[in-house]
Amino acid sequence: MSQIDHRIRLNDGHSIPQLGLGFWQLTPTEAEAVATEGLAAGYRLLDTAEGYSNEEGVGAALARSNLQRSDIYVTTKLRNAAHSRDAVLREFDASMEKLGVEVLDLFLIHWPRPAQDLYVEAWKTLIELRDQGRIASIGVSNFNEDHLQRLIDETGVTPAVNQIELHPGFQQQNLRQVHQRLGIVTESWSPLGQGGLLDNPAIGAIANRLGRTPAQVIIRWHLQQGLVVIPKSANAGRIRQNADVFAFSLSDEDLAAISALDRADGRVGPDPRTAEFSF
Ligand code: A2P
Repeated sequence: MSQIDHRIRLNDGHSIPQLGLGFWQLTPTEAEAVATEGLAAGYRLLDTAEGYSNEEGVGAALARSNLQRSDIYVTTKLRNAAHSRDAVLREFDASMEKLGVEVLDLFLIHWPRPAQDLYVEAWKTLIELRDQGRIASIGVSNFNEDHLQRLIDETGVTPAVNQIELHPGFQQQNLRQVHQRLGIVTESWSPLGQGGLLDNPAIGAIANRLGRTPAQVIIRWHLQQGLVVIPKSANAGRIRQNADVFAFSLSDEDLAAISALDRADGRVGPDPRTAEFSF
């Protein structure tokens, strides 16, 4: 884990870069600038979603990049309103068109929407697309243990990744243990607590001692936990700063001090059990 292109092995034989860039809440124009800046800073994982309405911006940056396609890892996520088989196929084609890629590296079901109860149908369709060679790896986001178990029981296919809200204020130890048991890689969204952890005194003390910023300390914590981490920033300087996390490490004491920040009620985003919004 000494470099930005360090990859983690998935249960399907592929591998994912451990540090990436998130694209939530960016316009297409901002997304293009962020992706271009990020690739120049060395990021190799770009994480967008149909629901972010900015895939075309990421696609424009990919088209302009001189990097090999195989060096860049592209993730997008299925729109919440599109869990039926027909809708998955339609929205997937639209995503590929906007991103301008032949094969997608990772496609995730964005939220389970349990009350709607179509996520197994969506998962079966992702399996179909993977078996056709249009997606390398398939996974989910915001799935709890019961949702994961149901996918496995009904299809025999275990998601490669579950991308969940995870940061020092909400560390998800139970779900991470489930992932370990099932062979699922954990990916952290809102890894900085949507910025809310950056003025935490315990993190500030570590940052001061190491001559680093709070964001760098938190990103380093994710990396040293073996998590895939996708901080988001719209600012070029902070994008570069967040990638500069391979020339220092946190001690066991630092890790323990950050682990002590975990809170049962520390969630900053929606709860997957009740989140039924349809973007
Ligand atoms: P900005 O886009 O203006 O840089 P998360 O990834 O947990 O959702 O956090 C994203 C939030 O954290 C955004 O508001 C982003 O603001 C802010 N942020 C990201 N990186 C840094 C950084 N290095 N220093 C300060 N704020 C940051």
